[in-house]
Amino acid sequence: MRIIVADHYEELCKLSANIVKKHVQEKKDAVLGLATGSTPVGLYKQLISDYQSGEIDFSKVTTFNLDEYAGLSPSHPQSYNHFMHEYLFQHINMQPGHIHIPQGDNPQLEAECKVYEDLIRRAGGIDIQILGIGANGHIGFNEPGSDFEDRTRIVKLSESTIQANARFFGGDPVLVPRLAISMGIQTILEFSRHIVLLASGEEKADAIQKMAEGPVTTDVPASILQKHHLVTVIADQKAAQKLKIETYS
Ligand code: F6R
Repeated sequence: MRIIVADHYEELCKLSANIVKKHVQEKKDAVLGLATGSTPVGLYKQLISDYQSGEIDFSKVTTFNLDEYAGLSPSHPQSYNHFMHEYLFQHINMQPGHIHIPQGDNPQLEAECKVYEDLIRRAGGIDIQILGIGANGHIGFNEPGSDFEDRTRIVKLSESTIQANARFFGGDPVLVPRLAISMGIQTILEFSRHIVLLASGEEKADAIQKMAEGPVTTDVPASILQKHHLVTVIADQKAAQKLKIETYS
């Protein structure tokens, strides 16, 4: 696991966008795994800017998002589908058919999970998977206690995640869906050739320390990333402040 400590959030965004940009410049039909939440918003902003200045072309790129709330239609303002269009897709030249996000309002949710998993496999896996991290160490919606062997599946959100995500639902936790579809930990580990995990702010400091330096345990789902062959963590100083080993770049 390579850990880069960025001076601030803007640098984190620039560094992560450069990794994506360089890869897409070299492989025009790259497959990207994307995350939602606050952390990658600045990365997407930078990618939009790189697209506008002609440095990156998304016309052959394929994307797979990590997760989606169950029960929300793609057009629901709080759906991750809506989020991705607002913060990235509507501003770049992605082909709509190349965008993949689990369909949260599919009445056959189990089948949706299986189809999603198959789509990633048929795409040949994911070149770069962007991850955020929950304050409780979750990745995707794989909450503490999730099995490391899990594939894309229906998950129950933990109470702390419901509280954390209430900010996207006008601050009312009652409005946050209780279930979601998420790529499983095994899906992420097996399909991603390079994982880029982003963390910003002191509320992530404990999770980052446990992820990188603690034991590998299902209590901290992100700790399994210690076992992946190519992980780049980009954390700003606040998120990195509890790391004990001082050899990070
Ligand atoms: C969202 C996702 C989540 C978030 C995590 C951090 O697609 O997969 O695991 O990455 O909850 O969210 P923020 O960035 O809002 O702190």
